[in-house]
Amino acid sequence: MTTTITRRQFTQRGAALLLTAMVPKGLFGSAQSSKRVVIRADSEIGLVRPEFHSHFAEHLGSCIYGGIWVGKNSPIANINGYRKQAVEYLKELGVPVLRWPGGCFADDYHWRDGIGPAEKRAKRVNIHWGNYVEDNSFGTHEFLEFCRLIGAEPYLAGNVGSGTPEELRDWIEYCNYPSGSALADERAANGSKEPFGVRYWGVGNENWGCGGEMRPEEYAAHYRRYTVYTRNFGNTRLYLVACGPNGNDLRWSRGVMEALAGRMPNGFSMHYYEGGSDPAVKFSVEAMKTQLASFAAVEQALIQQRALLDTYDPNRRIGLILDEWGVWDRMDPQEERTNGRLWQQATMRSAVAAGLGLNLFNRQADKLFMCNIAQMVNVLQSVLLTDGPQGQRCVRTANYWAFMLFKLHRAKTAVRVETEGALPPQPAGPGLRREIVLDLSVSASHKDNELVISFVNPKHDADMQVDCALRGVSAQEASAQILTHKDYNACNAFDAADTIVPRPHAARIEGGSRLLLDLPAMSVATAALKVA
Ligand code: AHR
Repeated sequence: MTTTITRRQFTQRGAALLLTAMVPKGLFGSAQSSKRVVIRADSEIGLVRPEFHSHFAEHLGSCIYGGIWVGKNSPIANINGYRKQAVEYLKELGVPVLRWPGGCFADDYHWRDGIGPAEKRAKRVNIHWGNYVEDNSFGTHEFLEFCRLIGAEPYLAGNVGSGTPEELRDWIEYCNYPSGSALADERAANGSKEPFGVRYWGVGNENWGCGGEMRPEEYAAHYRRYTVYTRNFGNTRLYLVACGPNGNDLRWSRGVMEALAGRMPNGFSMHYYEGGSDPAVKFSVEAMKTQLASFAAVEQALIQQRALLDTYDPNRRIGLILDEWGVWDRMDPQEERTNGRLWQQATMRSAVAAGLGLNLFNRQADKLFMCNIAQMVNVLQSVLLTDGPQGQRCVRTANYWAFMLFKLHRAKTAVRVETEGALPPQPAGPGLRREIVLDLSVSASHKDNELVISFVNPKHDADMQVDCALRGVSAQEASAQILTHKDYNACNAFDAADTIVPRPHAARIEGGSRLLLDLPAMSVATAALKVA
């Protein structure tokens, strides 16, 4: 996490730092606030697992149908039914893991409905997302082929709420058993002779809510029973994910861990959405500040949930997974009718939110296994938007570019960052009204001769001059990219798709031990430094 230190400590530690007044005027404008940061390349946190940048796609609105999948006979350019533009953009971004088919949908999904000849598949009602008829034309094979196309590892969410242990057991055998069993042969007859080798399996989704409204001990009993029948087949070792809390619900986590009675899952999944009280493109300053400030509570939740897991699992064998996160703004009913449920525009504010999230994952790298943004296309904080399910156009949102800016951190080791005057994560307590303080957010990672530093300025009304002291490395050169827009409600519209895109940004190394750069209001920037 960001370590908070006083100005005095800061000055003592960062001996090479100069006072703000000495910052060259040519680089920094005059009316900016100065921020001093120490990058402790000599103090490692943990691996930035590429899986922190994973995604989630649900049968909801136009995420799957119309977003990812347009069908083979569609006039929209497609690769065997997958929207071509989406495949290309996602491949370029790199999606480490993709979770499917829900969400709430997962605990009402019966996988057998989605295999075999498409025209014979059962038509079911999607009860969670509008009672529309789901024709199951996108099923297991279509999902796994999509993962193959974009280079993502699949993560299947099993049905506990309305399913059976047998159903989950059979789905695993269908996907992973090499050959010779009835289920493996059925898979081969349906087009995949080779096993899919799916490693990640969710044992239910939000079983405290749409996945069955269970109490923790009830869910734990289901988990124990379901996982008696799950098996590793061939070379695939299963990674089973138990349902964790809603936000920072410690009562749920403790209750589940107690009642699991030693049957430890491989992963424990929490969900944390950052709500917004305004429609995506019409945020007021107050609503935006409240939403962006909620990332401090997310960071606090990760710390507390990990600490609780540690009491049951001191060697941290259980991976803490945040497999649904992202901004959830107020929906516009008209937009939802036209474009699908939970269709949400992505603005400069959402990009800043993405940057805050990705920064905090780096800072908590030692506590996390995987994080999945909700959702991939057209739903909530998506990286791609299409102009309706029938729309030809597909744009990369500001979120897409924020993820792109963090790609350089993947597989590097996160290192500590000290930010002068930064506040520790402060969750809002019941009945507490706290002044919302948004400040510079920073994270850094290091590998071989590269040091990568990401910065987020979440203030809408203040530019920042950032002065970083580099500890434990000596830097030779730096290059930076920035995502920024003076209107925080601006977005990549279909007729102005490049409104918010990364641009090269000035960043200067001084004396091998300082990095200087400007951060305009509402910006996300990443600097890559060649270091020795
Ligand atoms: O992402 C939308 C919904 O949010 C998911 O279906 C559910 O898991 C969560 O409540």
